Amino acid sequence: MTTLRPQSITIVGAGTVGTHLATAFHNAGHHVRFAARDPHSDKVRAATETLSLDVVALRAASKGADFVVLAVPFAAVHDTVSALGDLGESVLIDATNTVADTLPDHATTIADVITTANPAAIIVKAFNTIGAEAFTSPTIDHRPLFLPIAGDSPAAEQVRQLAEQIGFDAVVIGDRTAIRLLETFAELWIHMAFRTGLGRNFGFARLKRAAPQQ
Ligand SMILES: NC(=O)c1ccc[n+]([C@@H]2O[C@H](COP(=O)([O-])OP(=O)(O)OC[C@H]3O[C@@H](n4cnc5c(N)ncnc54)[C@H](OP(=O)(O)O)[C@@H]3O)[C@@H](O)[C@H]2O)c1
Repeated sequence: MTTLRPQSITIVGAGTVGTHLATAFHNAGHHVRFAARDPHSDKVRAATETLSLDVVALRAASKGADFVVLAVPFAAVHDTVSALGDLGESVLIDATNTVADTLPDHATTIADVITTANPAAIIVKAFNTIGAEAFTSPTIDHRPLFLPIAGDSPAAEQVRQLAEQIGFDAVVIGDRTAIRLLETFAELWIHMAFRTGLGRNFGFARLKRAAPQQ
């Protein structure tokens, strides 16, 4: 089990993903705050008051942050990342999916869109492959759900430790070239949840056969 020292985490987007991740990271002992387009809106206040978390403007999201989590609709990704400004050494965790939207011609992943808005961003894709409820309930029948992660090294390993600490079977599957797989994996989860009648209350688990005895 990971013993990670408390990290400073800013979550951009106080919606479904943002509030579940904030709860999970807060409960794990991390310093969590939100960044929002309008930090003073009733919607943001309602989403954050349960945990009494601070809310800052987008431009201040990376200040003092080890991680900045992007949890906004795909249509808002480019403008939101632009509004974040210089991220410095903060790792950008991208939890977004296109869902019904399509990538622009120049992009093969959402990471490409992020890079267009902020070429220097350190990007790790994570928390996009499962319904947000799992962030606060990452086990089923006492087994941790599988959470694949991909992106820049060594940040991807740090994000893996964060995910493991909140209860996932988290695995770094590769660098930026593997991000496309995570976005496709999310399409599979969404398809199974909403097109096959399975519903949201499921996740994937990883089984590994023990090495055969010699
Ligand atoms: N829901 C899931 O189970 C799930 C799971 C994995 C990944 N994802 C992905 O995670 C991202 C967030 O999903 P979500 O379900 O958390 O969405 P959501 O509940 O609609 O929340 C989105 C948040 O983004 C903010 N936002 C910033 N710019 C926006 C804009 N231009 N238009 C609309 N909202 C804007 C909103 O803040 P304001 O208060 O300022 O409006 C809102 O708090 C999406 O890319 C989604 O595909 C979702």
